[in-house]
Amino acid sequence: MSGPGKDEAATLVEKPTAVDGLHYVNYGDQRESPYLSAIRQLISQDLSEPYSIYVYRYFLYQWPDLCFMALDKDENLIGVIVCKLEPHRGGPMRGYIAMLATRQQHRGQGIASALVRMAVEKMIAKDADEIALETEVDNEPSLRIYAHLGFIRTKRLHRYYLNGNTAFRLILYLKPGIPYKHTYPPEYGGPSDGGGLMDEDLVARQAAQLQLEDVEGETHDVTGGNTYR
Ligand SMILES: CC(C)(COP(=O)(O)OP(=O)(O)OC[C@H]1O[C@@H](n2cnc3c(N)ncnc32)[C@H](O)[C@@H]1OP(=O)(O)O)[C@@H](O)C(=O)NCCC(=O)NCCS
Repeated sequence: MSGPGKDEAATLVEKPTAVDGLHYVNYGDQRESPYLSAIRQLISQDLSEPYSIYVYRYFLYQWPDLCFMALDKDENLIGVIVCKLEPHRGGPMRGYIAMLATRQQHRGQGIASALVRMAVEKMIAKDADEIALETEVDNEPSLRIYAHLGFIRTKRLHRYYLNGNTAFRLILYLKPGIPYKHTYPPEYGGPSDGGGLMDEDLVARQAAQLQLEDVEGETHDVTGGNTYR
């Protein structure tokens, strides 16, 4: 996910305001949760181009257990992490951290670090082999969070984001031998691709399937199969 530059981030956390009644909860199994619009609003504040509602639904409908929220005493959304977990190009079971944000006035208090730890622990419990994400090369807070947890920089993705910023792909290997596990090239038509997908066709295609389901009332397999009924 694209975030603010270093200078902007630095000003945002200068005077963090403590959160009254801070607590962490899972998104839950309610598809159109009352938190959906708050999540969208919080995440879109830091994006160069906002995702459509269908991108949020793509993640939250399929992996609600991999979304954690930080709330204040009045249940207002303070921070959120959105993830998925699926086989990566027919190889490792890859967790993917798609979105992470903390409300500006509450940054620098360990909230995002706590959310990432919760998501990582849940993915480990679900037998993930590795966890991946992309983040801007100058997003110091984000890089620090993942460095503490043992994520390594596996790729530099030049001008990866729509705003032209460059990203690192970070991966946390959870089991021995995983980096050597065989995967299929993206053009291979076989096993489904679950890689770093926020800017790739698959999210757009799967989100479009959800949109069709809304508009046409058809049932779709969002994993890419043909299950029109
Ligand atoms: C990145 C982000 C989620 C961090 O949220 P947060 O709740 O402030 O994070 P934490 O308080 O857990 O701090 C994480 C680390 O960054 C450090 N940090 C916080 N602000 C910093 C800053 N301005 N400059 C450098 N380091 C900073 C913290 O000290 C901490 O490191 P430490 O554990 O070594 O002390 C938040 O800045 C944000 O929402 N940014 C916009 C969206 C974004 O960039 N998301 C991530 C892209 S995937």
